Amino acid sequence: MKKLQYQFSGKPTTYYLDADFGYLEKLVDKDHAVLITDEHIFKGQQKRFGGWNTIVIHAGEEYKVQATVDSVISQLIEMGADRQTTLVGVGGGVVTDITGYVAAIYMRGLSFGFVPTSVLSMVDAAIGGKNGIDVGVYKNMVGTIRQPSFLLHDYSLLKTLPKEEWVNGFAEIIKHAAIRDAALFRELEKNKLGTYQKDKTALARLIRRNVVIKSDIVRQDEFERGDRRLLNFGHTLGHAIENLYELSHGQAISIGMVAASMISEEILDFRETDRVMAVLKKYGLPTLAEFDPKEVLNVMRRDKKKVKETMNYVLLKKLGQGVVKPIPVNELEKLLQSIITAR
Ligand SMILES: NC(=O)c1ccc[n+]([C@@H]2O[C@H](COP(=O)([O-])OP(=O)(O)OC[C@H]3O[C@@H](n4cnc5c(N)ncnc54)[C@H](O)[C@@H]3O)[C@@H](O)[C@H]2O)c1
Ligand SMILES: [Zn+2]
Repeated sequence: MKKLQYQFSGKPTTYYLDADFGYLEKLVDKDHAVLITDEHIFKGQQKRFGGWNTIVIHAGEEYKVQATVDSVISQLIEMGADRQTTLVGVGGGVVTDITGYVAAIYMRGLSFGFVPTSVLSMVDAAIGGKNGIDVGVYKNMVGTIRQPSFLLHDYSLLKTLPKEEWVNGFAEIIKHAAIRDAALFRELEKNKLGTYQKDKTALARLIRRNVVIKSDIVRQDEFERGDRRLLNFGHTLGHAIENLYELSHGQAISIGMVAASMISEEILDFRETDRVMAVLKKYGLPTLAEFDPKEVLNVMRRDKKKVKETMNYVLLKKLGQGVVKPIPVNELEKLLQSIITAR
């Protein structure tokens, strides 16, 4: 087990990486804890939940909504959960987002921790304290920023994770490498998904490295006024096409990262879009999609990250070095149009 401690603005968060699920009993008292998970994880890992108070929600992004929050709250009341209760989200990003959000509002705030069970939630969603729900087509429209007291990683939980969910997680890993870590990018170019699925040590190292990249960025800018925006690389366009064309999150941001790389070529003389595309392909991600720039821009403009008629777009100066550039919306429309016609 590898123990790390991160101090964000509030209390410290302790990370137990490469640990065992059973260690949870040392972190929380079974009588004063409620685990929240989803039906897929509960079904695949039923034994782990023995003896724990557990709330099981439906699986899938469409359940990351207020109705699920209401149902979890009713069950907590029924169970007699109070301020001494710790909530533990055991799941992917949907579960950790819902858990962190409920923990922020139930009785004005309970302590909480996460046991992420997907690659994506291990390297991304469970870190950084942003927790929230979707409202209609708007992702993460309502939520809080509040840090968990602990994170526990048990990589054996990934045995039941479907292949396409591994691929989704690798989209965020490639994102981290592209904005912050050129050496990691080269490692990813050299290896393939199977390398990490088979080699537990390589996987543990990879996840840890990504946890550190995200945590360092968040620690420097918890409330997203500066560098935390780098984590949105591929996400501005990604979120818009994810909703419009029903792509998975990994697929959508993969296409978004390619578009952002192409825009970087126009604006910053970036010259390595080919490498970005090749590594995404290698990990099973799509690189290009047909989309209507006008329609996409309409959704992007309503995204909460927009600032008036200018959008903060994350671009690459070179591999491993992301930068945030304000781009006027009308210029962006032209850039997106030229990307589509260039193909
Ligand atoms: N809070 C943040 O900072 C942040 C960052 C990134 C993403 N997110 C959110 O995270 C969500 C995406 O996370 P995700 O990809 O983990 O999605 P998810 O929670 O929907 O999980 C993906 C699928 O994998 C299944 N699953 C997860 N772990 C499993 C396991 N061990 N065995 C079997 N099945 C398993 C789930 O049931 C689900 O069907 C999105 O809602 C996104 O907005 C939040
Ligand atoms: Zn993402």
